[in-house]
Amino acid sequence: MTATEPLRLTAPLAGGTTIPLIGFGTWQLRGDDARQAVTWALSAGYRHLDTATMYRNEAEVGRAVRDSDVGFDEVFLTTKLPDDRADRARATLEASLTALGTDVVDLWLIHWPPDHGAGVSTWRDLVAARAEGLARAVGVSNYSLDQIDQLTRATGETPEVNQVKWGPTRFDRATYDGHRERGVVLEGYSPFRSGRLTDPVLTRIAERHGTGTAQVVVRWHLQHGVVVIPKSARRERIVDNVDVGGFALSEEEMAAIDAL
Ligand SMILES: NC(=O)c1ccc[n+]([C@@H]2O[C@H](COP(=O)([O-])OP(=O)(O)OC[C@H]3O[C@@H](n4cnc5c(N)ncnc54)[C@H](OP(=O)(O)O)[C@@H]3O)[C@@H](O)[C@H]2O)c1
Repeated sequence: MTATEPLRLTAPLAGGTTIPLIGFGTWQLRGDDARQAVTWALSAGYRHLDTATMYRNEAEVGRAVRDSDVGFDEVFLTTKLPDDRADRARATLEASLTALGTDVVDLWLIHWPPDHGAGVSTWRDLVAARAEGLARAVGVSNYSLDQIDQLTRATGETPEVNQVKWGPTRFDRATYDGHRERGVVLEGYSPFRSGRLTDPVLTRIAERHGTGTAQVVVRWHLQHGVVVIPKSARRERIVDNVDVGGFALSEEEMAAIDAL
């Protein structure tokens, strides 16, 4: 991999599309900070943007794409349905599309499972939206494997993606394997906040490769085939976080990070 190739790595989704393994997270970026950060991310080569109705930045994310020389067709866009809009799923997606300024998103997720059960009727709405062509792929976020199985049993449709909190201190072999067995792409969120970037194991590995611990964490996700969506409001970090093509983690290093 060269420095820019990691941004082109993808994973196949069960519905036939593909998802770039690296995306840009936009939670807590609002207003012009959001537009600016997404603009920097696009010029750094990110082609996958992660937003949500709840982040209240879809308009700025869409504006940044429109104002860039990168077309919507070149960017993988994810947005998410908040649980308090579960009874208005379709209208909420339409509002997301309007705010983003596009006719279709690449991935629409249920942001959180409901308090009880797995949200089967909401899941049917997501599957219907995909059938209608409003979302190219559909999935869930913050779901357990058991809740995913409940959706599959009730509808015959398995979420294509589950976006969960993931990182070196959250690695769990059973969860990892369980997603693979079900054909669900595991997408990790909060890669840096799920642990400490100052961890001595990460620091030692980073020093060995002449890189930073954030890059080691991103690279660890990629080598596991887990989607990673780091967020930063700072231009240099947006660029550096995905500068992960110049080194590879050994099997021993991967295992040491898994064990954190
Ligand atoms: N589905 C869900 O429920 C859910 C929940 C949470 C997050 N997410 C998604 O996942 C994305 C990423 O997660 P996140 O935003 O929670 O956290 P994150 O990407 O793990 O970490 C972001 C934090 O790390 C800092 N940071 C970034 N690069 C750094 C570096 N190289 N060195 C040191 N610090 C660095 C950022 O500060 P600066 O901005 O100052 O650089 C920010 O404080 C979100 O933006 C969102 O899209 C989804």
